[in-house]
Amino acid sequence: MTGSAHASDERPVTVPRLRKMKRDGQRITMVTAYDATFARLFDDAGIEVLLVGDSLGMVVQGQDSTLPVTVDEVIYHCRAVARGTRRAHVVGDMPFLSWQVSPEKALENAGRFLSEGGAQSVKLEGGVDAAPTIERIVHAGIPVMAHVGLTPQSVHAMGGFRVQGRTEETAARVLADAKAVAQAGAYALVLEGIPTDLAQRITEAVDIPTIGIGAGPHCDGQVLVCYDLLGLTPDLKPKFVKRYAEFFEEGVAAARRYRDEVRAGTFPSEEYSFGKVKKTEAPAPKSGLSLVHVRTVYGPKG
Ligand code: KIV
Repeated sequence: MTGSAHASDERPVTVPRLRKMKRDGQRITMVTAYDATFARLFDDAGIEVLLVGDSLGMVVQGQDSTLPVTVDEVIYHCRAVARGTRRAHVVGDMPFLSWQVSPEKALENAGRFLSEGGAQSVKLEGGVDAAPTIERIVHAGIPVMAHVGLTPQSVHAMGGFRVQGRTEETAARVLADAKAVAQAGAYALVLEGIPTDLAQRITEAVDIPTIGIGAGPHCDGQVLVCYDLLGLTPDLKPKFVKRYAEFFEEGVAAARRYRDEVRAGTFPSEEYSFGKVKKTEAPAPKSGLSLVHVRTVYGPKG
């Protein structure tokens, strides 16, 4: 398909292409990633956008909210994700207080995600109040993905992780947020935790792609936290999450088989071992493995 950014297309996914996907009626897939291996996995699967989300605070660090996550931490994970990515668009998530203090501070931090983290754009949670900051960042040439509705960094203001916009009054506020960030120059918009019909209204009202999570099927794309998608979060099963695998259960089962085989002495067998030392006249090398062997078996150094 000409102009498509879908799986068969090997070209890098850029901001203009994501915007064109909306115009062409092609749905966008986005998944969070926090390291090079998962980035490679989703990139190979043809996912268009990899979000290095501040959700890493919860799924990687084990915190109970995203609030403790720092700019340096997200940038560290961005670098790893960028290294594992060949084609997908990498977005760095701006954590709590990284953009709210002042537009200048926001711009400085946003720039770091690109120059140090290897991301191609940034995301920030905020609506009407964030619009002037989004404008400032966008004018400096840094593409911004906005995020409205349930914004996890405002967990205390919202009184928990609650669906937003359930009444006409609050729905109007979310719609105003969406229009403000689109007007400010955001290139895409995450809609989180809002009713299906509100997400549809917003998707029709703005000309930038909407990417839903807990926002129903009418968005221009969808995003899931990778640990949820792959079934790595055994204690969390939110209504909006569909698990496409059960990696946690499979991982526990695999680890038990490993434990049992080590205990029984059946792993490592000869198949996984390096055999016997060769009997030669030459003096034995200091290590059992030559440098060449080490590089071949364990991969290149550095
Ligand atoms: O941090 C994150 O993972 C996110 C997504 C849920 C959109 O913001």
